[in-house]
Amino acid sequence: MEFREILARRRMQRAFLPDPLPPDQIERVVGVIRRAPSGGFSQGGSIVVVTDDQKRAEIAAAFGDEHYSRGGRNYIADAPVLLVLSANEALYHARYNEADKLAATGGTEVTWPVPYWFVDAGALMMLVLLAAIDEGLASAFVGHPEQKRIFGELLGLPDDVVPIGLALIGKPGEDPPSGSRLKERQRARDDLVHWQRW
Ligand SMILES: Cc1cc2nc3c(=O)[nH]c(=O)nc-3n(C[C@H](O)[C@H](O)[C@H](O)COP(=O)(O)O)c2cc1C
Repeated sequence: MEFREILARRRMQRAFLPDPLPPDQIERVVGVIRRAPSGGFSQGGSIVVVTDDQKRAEIAAAFGDEHYSRGGRNYIADAPVLLVLSANEALYHARYNEADKLAATGGTEVTWPVPYWFVDAGALMMLVLLAAIDEGLASAFVGHPEQKRIFGELLGLPDDVVPIGLALIGKPGEDPPSGSRLKERQRARDDLVHWQRW
């Protein structure tokens, strides 16, 4: 699929068909992690793939799926593939304390302009969501204030692995009308893109 076509289809899908996806298709989607950029090539992003019915139901329940679900259909629980995307800050500190990096920064760890581990995890999220669309599937991303505890308890995420959220992948179901993406909420392009200077 052409990039512009993928981009035109890019949206947070609000309903999924529960049909399971073939493992090789899931592998292709999560395989984009190998193409994801990372500061200093720290490779701090990670994915936990959850297809197990029971586990998906547990995650959906912990995320309060009932608040999303409409018309007798589930939202999170129906998506056949749930991907927990995480960042690992410790890997960045380790990488930026290696000799080549310290040589460039005068012997002390770089001053982080922003937390690159979350920047990179966000970039990974976008790659995964677009890769799903490229497969003819649909995708979405949701978060929960307690997601660190939830995925620690349900999936055994280690302490230093911080989930940024949950990607939902599957065949598109019939979407309810858009809520947060209403046209009148859209900010003017000139407020978003600045030429030459702010
Ligand atoms: C970091 C991030 C967190 C989000 N968290 C949620 C969420 O918890 N629940 C939800 O329904 N949508 C969530 N969304 C989806 C946004 O609501 C959605 O991207 C936005 O309304 C624009 O719609 P679109 O992505 O379909 O263009 C999240 C999106 C991002 C990028």
